[in-house]
Amino acid sequence: MSGEQNLYDPQYVKGVFDRCSDRYIAFSYACSFGFTERWRRQCVAALAAPADARVGYDLMAGTGEVWPHLLAANPEIERIIAVDISSGMHRRALARLHIMRAHRIEFVEDDILASELPDESADFIVSTFGLKTFNASQHRKLASLVARVLRPGGRFAFIEASDPRVWWLRPLYLFHLKVVLPLIECILLRGAQDFSMIGNYSTAFGDASAFGSMLEREGLIVRFQKHFFGCATSVSGAKS
Ligand SMILES: C[S@@+](CC[C@H](N)C(=O)[O-])C[C@H]1O[C@@H](n2cnc3c(N)ncnc32)[C@H](O)[C@@H]1O
Repeated sequence: MSGEQNLYDPQYVKGVFDRCSDRYIAFSYACSFGFTERWRRQCVAALAAPADARVGYDLMAGTGEVWPHLLAANPEIERIIAVDISSGMHRRALARLHIMRAHRIEFVEDDILASELPDESADFIVSTFGLKTFNASQHRKLASLVARVLRPGGRFAFIEASDPRVWWLRPLYLFHLKVVLPLIECILLRGAQDFSMIGNYSTAFGDASAFGSMLEREGLIVRFQKHFFGCATSVSGAKS
């Protein structure tokens, strides 16, 4: 599969994550040295959900790793609507990890880029590591969906692994993505190439600043933050 068109085709991305779903949690934790968990917590802190938040979306929810952090920080939340194009990721996650909170989770299998989520239906929108598999025009669609779906006063936060662009860290970051990840995958996962594929999306993504500008153009208040010298970046804010 080659060319931007194909790599960013939602059905192609769905295939990558359906194939990864069994091993995604362990692999992403190990290969990020545990940073992904810390960044999910920081994303929830940046969300700063309003005290009256009851219902909201976890977009590109995957295996739902952000839910424990979100519900611990905001015990008053009644319902998280998890949206993901890959039901494989979700099914396994609910069965294995989230039985005790399953009554507060609703799952919508949907391509977010073609989604008809209702206007002003969310007190909050959170999303962890779901930006990198979109190109610029898809990011614009997503920004417009966030502005449409949030109720006035509602808050959002997105975080994504990013290119640190710091001279001393960048070579390490690229070595990790381009050499270490494919090697681990080759040895431990018998040569499947889906996790290395996720590495390719990360290199092409850059950071969340461009997506932040798109959210601003949609009229949202936006704050851009770097995490661990820019190895992850987040955009968070509110609809006034
Ligand atoms: C890297 S995983 C992130 C999962 C989880 N949020 C986390 O914190 O680990 C990205 C998720 O985005 C989903 N995804 C990719 N494209 C999508 C789309 N167009 N619509 C909905 N979900 C999508 C994938 O199926 C995958 O579960």
